[in-house]
Amino acid sequence: MKILITGGAGFIGSHVVRRFVTHYGNYQIFNLDKLTYAGNLQNLTDIDKSPNYQFIKGDITDAPFIQSLFNTHAFDAVIHLAAESHVDRSITSPLDFIKTNVEGTLQLLQAANACWQNKTHKHLFYHVSTDEVYGSLGKTGFFTEETPYNPQSPYAASKAASDHLVRAYQNTYQLPTVISNCSNNYGPNHFPEKLIPLAINNIKNNLPIPIYGKGENVRDWLYVEDHAAAIDLIFHKGTVGETYNIGGHNEWHNIDVIKLLCQIMDEALNRTAGTSAQLITYVKDRAGHDLRYAIDSGKLQHTLGWQPSLNFEKGLRQTVSWYLNNETWLNNVTSGAYKNYYQMQYGNR
Ligand code: NAD
Ligand code: TYD
Repeated sequence: MKILITGGAGFIGSHVVRRFVTHYGNYQIFNLDKLTYAGNLQNLTDIDKSPNYQFIKGDITDAPFIQSLFNTHAFDAVIHLAAESHVDRSITSPLDFIKTNVEGTLQLLQAANACWQNKTHKHLFYHVSTDEVYGSLGKTGFFTEETPYNPQSPYAASKAASDHLVRAYQNTYQLPTVISNCSNNYGPNHFPEKLIPLAINNIKNNLPIPIYGKGENVRDWLYVEDHAAAIDLIFHKGTVGETYNIGGHNEWHNIDVIKLLCQIMDEALNRTAGTSAQLITYVKDRAGHDLRYAIDSGKLQHTLGWQPSLNFEKGLRQTVSWYLNNETWLNNVTSGAYKNYYQMQYGNR
């Protein structure tokens, strides 16, 4: 089987690529990535010489390039993760999100549909999406697969639009598709613009940890390898045309995540207990900040038997030790353009 994975040099995509390359020696894995600021080939140095792996640098919005890629390789399946993924950047540059997340997804759907006219052969277009398409919850309740879409940020709106396009191709052209909507991921290779890796990097460097608003917003955290395992399961065993929610049943207020992280960092860096927590700094809230996300992943658990494998504290400890042991990776991604982004987003705080 020839599988095109898009966005494989980013955070989640690199874990998905590694899993497929190492678990399925009989598959040919093609990793298509534009290598934006978020894409990093250093994420995959351990597997990039594998005989069943090939990296292709390219842009999913480039229609002629995408069409010729499908014509050349005749992929059997697509796992689509390439996206602009950070809410704060979507607030300052929404057009980039429409371009990549909406138009890019459309170009891939179009090319797959044109290439897969021979419907007797088994194909699958797997679209990786987010729980943010459902909007924001109050203090109670969970997102299920039936929750109406109500995206609140430009990022969430662009992902919602891409989900709608995927369903439209399934309905109109019978393109075989599956979608999963996952909660917040954390783990190794996470770009330090997102809460957890940003806090780890700042604590390490004795810089303020910026907490938006009062830190009361709630996210449902899942270790990235558990997400990759869910994608593997859905890709192989999921029902065509279905949607699956993926989440950790692991809700935390942001401030509590950061307090636990500070405790783990104090231990890892041999600092006196309480030292890192002094870096906590409350800053201006994010515009339109969603209060709470919480996923009901019952369908995935009951129909396909998926379970998250790691508890949060263990996952956070593993994540902290990865960042402390991969200083070169962290220094490389936080040099150059990252400094400008940080200054623009947080000023001198
Ligand atoms: P990321 O920002 O770390 O990686 C995105 C990758 O896409 C990068 O390697 C980037 O170079 C590539 N890319 C961006 N624009 C491209 C383009 N035009 N053409 C080709 N490649 C391009 O993102 P992530 O956190 O790994 O998220 C991956 C996917 O999972 C996204 O679709 C995201 O919406 C979804 N998702 C993320 C989370 C999360 O917590 N991070 C949760 C649920 C779903
Ligand atoms: P983030 O990691 O950006 O993911 P998302 O917005 O997709 O949930 O943010 C997680 C939570 O942390 C969210 O409620 C916003 C908050 N946050 C901060 O308080 N400070 C920060 O510097 C960042 C990046 C996020």
